[in-house]
Amino acid sequence: MIHRRQPTRNRTGWTSNVPNELSQLFIAFSASTIRPVLDIGAAFGVATIPALEAGASVLANDSDPSHLASLEALTPPHLRPQLHLLSGRFPVDLDIPPHSLDAIHASNVLHFLTGEELVAGMQKIARWLAPGGRLFVQAGTPYQQPFAAFVPVYEARIAAGEPWPGWVEDARAISTHKKLGQIPRSLHLLDEAVLTRLVTLADLRIERIWTYRRHDLPRSMHLDGREGVGLVAYT
Ligand SMILES: C[S@@+](CC[C@H](N)C(=O)[O-])C[C@H]1O[C@@H](n2cnc3c(N)ncnc32)[C@H](O)[C@@H]1O
Repeated sequence: MIHRRQPTRNRTGWTSNVPNELSQLFIAFSASTIRPVLDIGAAFGVATIPALEAGASVLANDSDPSHLASLEALTPPHLRPQLHLLSGRFPVDLDIPPHSLDAIHASNVLHFLTGEELVAGMQKIARWLAPGGRLFVQAGTPYQQPFAAFVPVYEARIAAGEPWPGWVEDARAISTHKKLGQIPRSLHLLDEAVLTRLVTLADLRIERIWTYRRHDLPRSMHLDGREGVGLVAYT
């Protein structure tokens, strides 16, 4: 299938019509689930719809209700009984019973959270997952072409032991990328060390964590092969 990037309607970046590598792992895992799975920042359903097709019952969350309306309209009618829409901002607006989910997927959404929200969010994720449940995260790192000027700042913060080295207060101050208007002013670029700390703090265990260039990343974002970070963790 040809990749098509689709802008989100609330200027929180882009989604795609083809699941990235991490989302594919979530979709494959969904086929073996009994309890519902949660897709945080589901957008138009790039991962939700294949997870439904794999047989899972999916709670699709997004902070933009119009994204969820489109997702529902795009879902084949025979799969709609397995789809549950959860409009609201993760983590603050979401309240899900403890140990009720078999998997949670968060692809290209954790960037929109501050450090404090990430800590609170990971605690919720750990509480919501049933024993043996899996967490799948895909996030962008600072090693992306539009943020190249930020890399020395980020690396100096790591050397100084700062807890959130990838927090960008004002993206316009560090990048002149022509499509910056499609992302929020502040964003959180993540890495293996920060995700490892967050997950460990929440008592989740890491199955796999790695940096890579996801196949749907536009050429203009390419830097050195470490543009994305993938994480699979379990309870
Ligand atoms: C860059 S898109 C990623 C969509 C999809 N997960 C993917 O991998 O292509 C980010 C999506 O997350 C949603 N979003 C942003 N912040 C959110 C939050 N705090 N809670 C829930 N959804 C959020 C946006 O509305 C948007 O649909």
